Amino acid sequence: MSLIWAKGTSRPDEAIQRFSAADDVQLDRVLFRFDIQASGAHVLGLEKAGVLSAAESSSLREALKSLDAAWTNGEFELDERYEDGHSAIESYLIEKLGEVGKKVHTGRSRNDQVLVASRLYLRTSLDELKALCVTIAKTTLEVAHAEMMTPMPGYTHLQRAVPSSVGLWMAAFAEAFTDNAELAELTRKWVNKNPLGTAAGYGVNAPLERDLVSGELGFDALQINPIYAQNSRGKFEIQVIDTFAQAMLDVRRLMWDLSLYTTAEFDFVRLPDAYTTGSSIMPNKRNPDIVELLRAAYGVVEGARVELTQTLSLPSGYHRDLQNTKGPMIRAIERSKEALRLIPPLIGELQFQREKMAAAISPDMYATDIATELALGGMPFRDAYKEAARQIPEIQDRDPAESLKSRTSPGATANPLLDRIEARLSGLAD
Ligand code: ARG
Repeated sequence: MSLIWAKGTSRPDEAIQRFSAADDVQLDRVLFRFDIQASGAHVLGLEKAGVLSAAESSSLREALKSLDAAWTNGEFELDERYEDGHSAIESYLIEKLGEVGKKVHTGRSRNDQVLVASRLYLRTSLDELKALCVTIAKTTLEVAHAEMMTPMPGYTHLQRAVPSSVGLWMAAFAEAFTDNAELAELTRKWVNKNPLGTAAGYGVNAPLERDLVSGELGFDALQINPIYAQNSRGKFEIQVIDTFAQAMLDVRRLMWDLSLYTTAEFDFVRLPDAYTTGSSIMPNKRNPDIVELLRAAYGVVEGARVELTQTLSLPSGYHRDLQNTKGPMIRAIERSKEALRLIPPLIGELQFQREKMAAAISPDMYATDIATELALGGMPFRDAYKEAARQIPEIQDRDPAESLKSRTSPGATANPLLDRIEARLSGLAD
């Protein structure tokens, strides 16, 4: 492994190098393209500041482009030959351009380099999160439209409560994922600030064009204080993880619903084959493994959060401990994205056992409707409640769809509940 900071005085110990590098190069593979992108903007900034000539700047930027292409098509390998992704970029430029390549690191440190690559990665991840949440919201809303009047029991405490519908259940997740998409948008704005130009955490005595570089990279604002730029490492990762966690909480709840409703005891829903597995010993089994792994993904996210907060017990400035924020950040985000991508096809292929669900609605579940009807007729609600309770053994079966309609869209012909969720969803900027 070549070390860019080695000054030729002593040979680094193998075991120590292995320990300090750990999985760092592997993790940098996730950040690599962002690091290359930020390097290009940094070079442009150096040119505008008069530190690099136009010719030097363009050959550096061309070389960065070819590195990006080589990386994308698999010709360039980022592996243990390099200390990290940052030094791999510099080595590539030096190998390709000689003296000019050695100029790229003027006015920057790996400390602001990793910050900017991380922020670009997080920003992109939040855009992906938003798009995934919008897709999930749309998919659940479509099912909600189709199944709005498909009766199923509504539960509180897992005890039968009032008649509900498949559509109402699905629309709950449409609204949840609309909220989650909105949160991704808000967090993106919070994270989208540029740390590049703060160097090792104390600025640098070079006339850097920070605003220009920021604009070039599409940042909304600058990180102003160089010490805070370092101190914010981990903080912004936590905020992004919390944003993902909101979506993963809803995934966990939806998967819980599915694992419950797919039991033989309920048999309200059947899963698409691809989301189930068999047992190695019990020939009769069809297990909802994928649903369970999707439910468990939330644990990965929260575990990552704990790792982050444990790492952040630090004084001001850069510390190598901060390298340990990268693993949990990437693990939480990549696992969440993998999970979220599996939700729309799952929802789209659920097979609702409509008769089973309708049969699970018992007449006593109309008691609340009856109490309210009596109250609307003038009886004080407390008396109406007692009267409805008295009537429970003789309550006649009713139309669950009418009952639901009277509770979710009284007097309306269209369905304001679904329309309002739809309006919120389409109101989210692209
Ligand atoms: N891999 C390092 C990290 O993630 C990059 C910064 C290295 N800086 C240093 N001073 N050793 O923090």
